[in-house]
Order: sequence, then C-alpha cells, then structure tokens
Amino acid sequence: MKYRIAPSLLSADFARLGEEVREVIAAGADFIHFDVMDNHYVPNLTVGPLVCQAIKPYATVPMDVHLMVQPVDALVSGFAQAGATIISFHPEASQHVDRTIALIRDCGCKPGLALNPATPIDCLDWVLDQLDLVLLMSVNPGFGGQAFIPHTLDKLRQVRTRIDAAQQRTGREILLEVDGGVKADNIAAIAKAGADTFVAGSAVFSGSDYAKTIGALRHALASAS
Ligand code: DX5
Ligand code: ZN
Repeated sequence: MKYRIAPSLLSADFARLGEEVREVIAAGADFIHFDVMDNHYVPNLTVGPLVCQAIKPYATVPMDVHLMVQPVDALVSGFAQAGATIISFHPEASQHVDRTIALIRDCGCKPGLALNPATPIDCLDWVLDQLDLVLLMSVNPGFGGQAFIPHTLDKLRQVRTRIDAAQQRTGREILLEVDGGVKADNIAAIAKAGADTFVAGSAVFSGSDYAKTIGALRHALASAS
C-alpha cells in the first residue's frame, strides 16, 4: 500500500504561503491540500483560484483542491486553470453530481467526492467508477484543529470494500482520503481501516520542524502495513 500525506494549507502561515508550500514539500509532502471555503456551504471563508495560481510555481507535487463551496460548477474551470490536479466537492453542494464530475474531468482534472460525517456512502452508487478519489471527512468541514470523529473508521472500512470492488472491475486506481483530526497517534488506525491518503493540517503546521512531523506520521504508518 502506497500512503500519501497531504498537508492542509489551512493551518499554514498565509503571509508566506509560497515558502510554506516549498518547505512542506521538501519535508516530504506527497500532495498539497488546498481548502476552499465560501461562508455559505461552510461557515468560514478562505481562498480562491488566484491564490491557488500564486502558489502553483512552488507546488512541485499534485495540488489537491477541496471545494467546500456551493454552487460548485462555476469555480471548476478557474481552479483547473490555476493548476489544480485533483478537485473534490461535496454532493450536497451540487445540483447534478454526475455533471460536476464530468465537468472536472473535461477541465483536465481528477474528480473527487467529499462525504461529510453524516453523509451516507450510498451517494457513491452510480458515480464511484467515474471518480479518482473519495474524500471522507472525519470532522465537520469548515475549520482546522477539530477532533477526529471515531465512526469514520467504520465508514472507511465500508468505502474501502466498495473501492476495492470498483478497482477490480475497472482496473483504475481510486484514492481513499481522510480529512480532519489526523495525527501521529491515530494515523495507523485510520490506515488499517482503509485510508491511503491523509490530510493533516494542524498536525503538520503547528510544529516548526515539518520533516520531523511528517516523519512521525510515516513512522506510525509503517506500523500499519
Ligand atoms: C476542514 C478542512 C481540513 C482541515 C484539516 O474543513 O477540510 O482539510 O484543514 O485540519 P486538521 O488536520 O487540523 O483537522
Ligand atoms: Zn480539506
């Protein structure tokens, strides 16, 4: 199992975002997780395509854009042009989930579907084969630094089973990403439940030595496999 660590810029120093991106990649980040909040779908406001474009020259790893916005479609091409690799959105925020997935792919990006803690996994029915990533929220979206919701482990196991079946059927890789409250002391259990991609915001950026923190996450992951 290849594990990927995706530091969330939400907890980075926004006054020196480019440097933060460069440093966290040098420290071993596999993806840069870019949280977009609109003060409508979620009660917080962050950044848009302009900032994504500004940090793109620093991002030598895939840019993992997590849209917590409603409506979704109008922003997809902007983020694609700004350099997004993956674009994930929440099904509740799109009138036509299948259409939004197709739009993301047509723009040259990889589509991901993000499921809130209370969102049933049935929403993956009929669309899983079109996705490159499933993002399970292990906190309610909107803020960094919240505690991991334990029932996410059961949900991960159920989604892992579905993804394995889809991969068998289609031969395509679908990543299973978990977002919220991931730390060195729970990442092994999260991996054992089936996640392969781990967003970590406060866990990475609250310390000053990013290589040490990412190293600790990887060390804990090694015990899971
Ligand atoms: C929350 C965001 C997360 C957040 C995670 O809505 O989607 O990506 O930054 O932060 P931590 O790792 O601190 O829970
Ligand atoms: Zn996120």
